[in-house]
Amino acid sequence: MNFSISPRAIELRKGHCLLIGVVQNESLQNNVITLPQKVKSAINAAVFGANFKGEVGKSVVLHAVPEIQGSSIVLFGLGGRSELSKKTFIAATNHAIDCARNLNISRAYFAIPDLKIPDIPKPWQARKLSLAASLKSYQFHIFQKEKFGRSRASDRKIVFSMLGNTDTLEAKNLVIGNAIGDGCNLARDLGNLPPNICTPAYLANVATEMGQTFNFQTRVLDERQMEKLKMNALLAVSKGSAQPAKFIEMIYRGAPRKRSPIVIIGKGVTFDTGGISIKPSSNMDEMKYDMSGAGSVLGTLLTISKLKLPINVVGLIPAVENMPGSEATRPGDIVETKSGLTVEILNTDAEGRLILCDAITYAEKFNPSVVIDIATLTGACVVALGKVATGLFSNDDKLSAELVEAGEKSWDRVWQMPIWDDYQQQLKSNFADLANIGGREAGSVTAACFLSKFATKFSWAHLDIAGTAWNSGSNKGSTGRPVPLLSEFILRRCGL
Ligand code: BES
Ligand code: MN
Ligand code: ZN
Repeated sequence: MNFSISPRAIELRKGHCLLIGVVQNESLQNNVITLPQKVKSAINAAVFGANFKGEVGKSVVLHAVPEIQGSSIVLFGLGGRSELSKKTFIAATNHAIDCARNLNISRAYFAIPDLKIPDIPKPWQARKLSLAASLKSYQFHIFQKEKFGRSRASDRKIVFSMLGNTDTLEAKNLVIGNAIGDGCNLARDLGNLPPNICTPAYLANVATEMGQTFNFQTRVLDERQMEKLKMNALLAVSKGSAQPAKFIEMIYRGAPRKRSPIVIIGKGVTFDTGGISIKPSSNMDEMKYDMSGAGSVLGTLLTISKLKLPINVVGLIPAVENMPGSEATRPGDIVETKSGLTVEILNTDAEGRLILCDAITYAEKFNPSVVIDIATLTGACVVALGKVATGLFSNDDKLSAELVEAGEKSWDRVWQMPIWDDYQQQLKSNFADLANIGGREAGSVTAACFLSKFATKFSWAHLDIAGTAWNSGSNKGSTGRPVPLLSEFILRRCGL
């Protein structure tokens, strides 16, 4: 499914469809003002017809509307006014997109209504609409040759357009939502790719190619260069793997050089076996998603590049594979991190924090305004928050409030957890400055507390996306989260 924006008032033709959201028990909104009177009457007749009340998830398709023969109108329910919310709007929109897909049409127009609800303004609707459409258009069939053959090329394309003119804030937001969707879909591709293909070197190549396409600077450090930089905790994780580690640096400059950048750091464990502290085998395939933080950094850089945002952003990705080879790190090994703090590695499966701590120290060189790391860090976070909210941890209340707000706006929500000093004692080691595990209790918190020891020189937030980055079961697949959240955060810093 493709997206484009219609420059003028719509012209409904054969093979087109118009999607109109209907509030329960209300007549048509002003969004269809430009339609011919006969069409409006036909729609109103249907709205007040017996079997369509405008509930969320319900819709009717009108085929034989006078004056627009050959095209169809889909009325989809937005629910009752009192229950209208971001959540119901998104559910209704997704349903409408499914309806459009099931019709044999080439073009679908959305009529964005002025609902007069402060939480659901038109520009927000437009942003959400195009994001939803581009998420719905996502497919990952490249390895299903038998089932889908060459269907990628032959897939029907639906063009979504908006009603009205391109100068509006709504039109701009359609473009923004679409760019966020592209970023999500890149993150999803990278997550869904099998771990024999999506290796640290593969991620590095994606970053390099993106830098060339969009004209931002990328640099890939190899293991020798990382040794020189004393990134020993990162290298300790990679030691058991035949795949060489890569440290990826992307520098997007959309503002004058002297402006401090936002640094985003994504955990890039392209496969997490646990290492010598090996994981149980059930569902271990899902540990290919352990690079989802990295995927979200690449996705967010794609979004901001496409939108040419006027801001400086640095993306950092420590990329490794965690394997139990003969040279692998052993439980009990002690390493000196880039920061100088020593760590006793009591469990090689707590590897995310080991690669992130060196990346966080590395970030100091950019004199960042904020540093945000994104990581599928702990199973404990999934226990705490499930698949709904990303765990948020921060040393700066203003930054966390900003992220909570961006999460609400983008509907890619986060929930703040503590990193109080009281937890720090769980990370005591008898032999080093720190242990890399903090026991059974509060696992996501002690992981964040570990990271906080390295984020001493700047405002910092940590997003634990272990529950939100992918779905399991029959709809197994990457979600692209938290690209919408990160994009929203950056857009808001640009005043957009
Ligand atoms: N990548 C995992 C976290 C994870 C597990 C995410 C399951 C999503 C689903 C991480 O590297 C890990 O193994 N964490 C350990 C930490 C423990 C050894 C302290 C965990 O959560 O069990
Ligand atoms: Mn692990
Ligand atoms: Zn991991």
